[in-house]
Amino acid sequence: MTKLIIGNWKMNPETIEQARGILLPIEHKMHLVQENLEVCVCPPAVFLAPLNHTSHNVVLGAQNVSWLDGGPLTGEVSGSQLKQWKVKYVILGHSERRIYLGETEEMISKKIVQVLKTRLVPVVCLGGDKAAKKDEMKPLVTRQFHAAIKNLDRKQIEKIVFAYEPTWAISTVKNSEHASGEHARELILHIQELLSHEVGEARAKNMLILYGGTVNKNNVHEYTKYPEIDGALVGAASLDPGDFWEVVHEFYRESIHS
Ligand code: 13P
Repeated sequence: MTKLIIGNWKMNPETIEQARGILLPIEHKMHLVQENLEVCVCPPAVFLAPLNHTSHNVVLGAQNVSWLDGGPLTGEVSGSQLKQWKVKYVILGHSERRIYLGETEEMISKKIVQVLKTRLVPVVCLGGDKAAKKDEMKPLVTRQFHAAIKNLDRKQIEKIVFAYEPTWAISTVKNSEHASGEHARELILHIQELLSHEVGEARAKNMLILYGGTVNKNNVHEYTKYPEIDGALVGAASLDPGDFWEVVHEFYRESIHS
């Protein structure tokens, strides 16, 4: 099955030259990994237009979108606007937006509907919550999952990419903890089970569920050894082209051997 590796650059880097410097080395090596694997980078929105001319084999994604398709919403960007820059994926429900920017489950649900309407692919993060403890992830993920899909029909749900991304495992969180491959696999199987109830087991198995939380060149083997982990949502390591490439290549290596 296809693997998907997404680099979430967050509010980095500072300049468009630096952004090109991160993307180009990956872009140049993409011919080595193209079957079975897709690579996406999600730069800050202002870099989408200029990077659109640099990315040919690496797909572009956005880190946010409005739930409206135009109109009076200061500071927001619409899905149709993103599409003009060849954006394919949109990250939604990221813990940083839930925790620091007050994004509610209601807002996330509206954004998912709008993204699907615009024919972009939502990458819906589950597991992000300020208070969530390691042993409380299943109820949290279950609640966020149901809130995310509440206004969707089966066909729409099937178009979503999900990512299990526990806040406590994100590299920039103070005292962050390691999430083992086994833990990531367990929660990914849990999301797959939730999906089975909505779309049926066979279809759920065909949907992509990624893991995010300090995936880098040093620990990527822990995640690639589980075929249920369909890829990674990478933060800090995606800003270092060497590190990111090793993550990409390791998923590719596993995908051709599985
Ligand atoms: P890190 O890989 O830096 O932990 O970030 C994960 C993340 O938030 C990706 O969306």
